[in-house]
Amino acid sequence: MRTKEELRAAVEAAVWAPSPHNTQPWSFALEEGEISLRSDTDRLLRVADAAGRELLLGCGAALFNIRTALRAMGHRPVVRVLPDPDRPALLATVRLGPDEEADEDVRVMNAEIPRRRTHRAGFLPDPVSGDLLDTLVGEARAEGARLTPVGSEAAARILAAVTAAAQDVQARDRAFTLEIVRWGRPPGSRHMDGVPADAYPGEPGRTWPHFAQRDYTAGRAWGTGEDRQEAVETGVVALLTTPGDAPEDWIAAGQALQRVLLRASAHDVTAAFHTQALENHHLREFVRHELCSGEFPQMILRLGHAPGRTRGVRRPLGEVLQESEGPEDDGTSVPEG
Ligand SMILES: Cc1cc2nc3c(=O)[nH]c(=O)nc-3n(C[C@H](O)[C@H](O)[C@H](O)COP(=O)(O)O)c2cc1C
Repeated sequence: MRTKEELRAAVEAAVWAPSPHNTQPWSFALEEGEISLRSDTDRLLRVADAAGRELLLGCGAALFNIRTALRAMGHRPVVRVLPDPDRPALLATVRLGPDEEADEDVRVMNAEIPRRRTHRAGFLPDPVSGDLLDTLVGEARAEGARLTPVGSEAAARILAAVTAAAQDVQARDRAFTLEIVRWGRPPGSRHMDGVPADAYPGEPGRTWPHFAQRDYTAGRAWGTGEDRQEAVETGVVALLTTPGDAPEDWIAAGQALQRVLLRASAHDVTAAFHTQALENHHLREFVRHELCSGEFPQMILRLGHAPGRTRGVRRPLGEVLQESEGPEDDGTSVPEG
């Protein structure tokens, strides 16, 4: 494949990253054998995510997809994160480095990029193996983040309680509610962003401890009506943390998150996200000091075996990718370390 086609294929993979409320807050440009990844702040959740932390997590996940897709094509990607301090919206550039045969791990993760989905209910009773959890911890570490499976039942109950508190506070806040309603899509919607009505059950079974789901419906009877009585397990509660809390940490956390999710997905393990508490400064600080040994919590998740995968929607490439008109690039480049 020519370089330009390969880079385009990598952008096609990028858009399957998770993002808050499926805002897909990114744009890409292809120029002179290089992909630029930019944040699209028109899609920032101004109420829930004023600092852009979650936006950068999503973009970091997209960056990990680009790296994985290029590696699966047999190239070592040369990545520069936040390459220009004068252009903070330019999150990363990626060029092709030397050829390098893809190993099986990379191929497996790459195949999961379009399959991975967010789960929004309880899990089946099948346990997640300790070996897999160890592997996931290693995947996060390789990207400079820490994944901590929460072993203590008391700690899991505390996280469920702060999630419920944050959910209740947000539900009483008109600005929060309007923002979520803006991204929750009615059944049959043709929007290619936002959370489709068939991406969550209408009435999720209660787990113990129970982690409050976001309400994308504003009280309307949306969601799938499937009977999932057997899926009532909380699964493994886990925290993703970073030592720092600057934009580069958020991008690293996003890459770590996606690396964990793809590896888990290859073992048929799916994640549910519960980030409500991390959108409230006081609750986030509480979680940080009580449960994260002072590291910064970037994501609260549950991992388990889901009865099925939800539907994913993404905007077409033409909406997110700008391409220069120039001739096909031969992609010859010198890796920068
Ligand atoms: C930073 C971040 C925060 C998220 N928070 C939540 C959440 O609190 N609740 C939830 O159900 N999904 C959450 N999600 C998942 C997104 O809603 C999901 O990725 C998006 O709708 C696209 O769907 P997909 O992951 O199934 O492809 C979050 C995703 C990201 C990246």
